[in-house]
Amino acid sequence: MYKNWNELEEACNNCKKCRLCNSRTKVVIGTGNKNAKIMFIGEGPGADEDSQGIPFVGKAGQLMNKAFEGIGIKREDVYITNIVKCRPPQNRNPEKEEAQSCKEYLDTQIKLINPEIIILLGSVALKNILGEEYGITASRGKWFEKDGKKILPTFHPAALLRDETKKIYFWQDLKMLTKINI
Ligand code: URA
Ligand code: SF4
Repeated sequence: MYKNWNELEEACNNCKKCRLCNSRTKVVIGTGNKNAKIMFIGEGPGADEDSQGIPFVGKAGQLMNKAFEGIGIKREDVYITNIVKCRPPQNRNPEKEEAQSCKEYLDTQIKLINPEIIILLGSVALKNILGEEYGITASRGKWFEKDGKKILPTFHPAALLRDETKKIYFWQDLKMLTKINI
């Protein structure tokens, strides 16, 4: 574990713990409020994120921003990050070992932010945080608890771009957050 944000950011920006370091442009650590009550965890950076160094700025991110606006969540009030901090080539799923190598950064982020709620965006985040046995279709919209945190899995915004019928569920799931004083 890293003691503070400076140590974490320094380590991430110079990280060579897995082979994703070979193809990345920028390490994508996270964005938003470091005292957030709600933290979102995606999969890994795509092309736009890799070039800008900021998570969820491409098409999927824009769709997520729209949902945030519609529901009344401010992007700057929450914290957003990913399972792996470097882009997997051709946007393939991060491999188990890559996610494992990167886990200490995510664990440190969770410890430093200490959110009440963690939203898992899609299958990769779900399986890495709750376990391989979970499936996103059966788990989305249900609350879980782990290490004292409330965990809510939902669809990945990129899945909504591929299948419009999933949008309503994503909105329903995020809508539950408006009952909380963000
Ligand atoms: N998809 C993700 O999982 N994360 C991003 O940051 C962008 C797209
Ligand atoms: Fe390091 Fe994570 Fe990037 Fe792999 S994905 S090089 S572990 S920061």
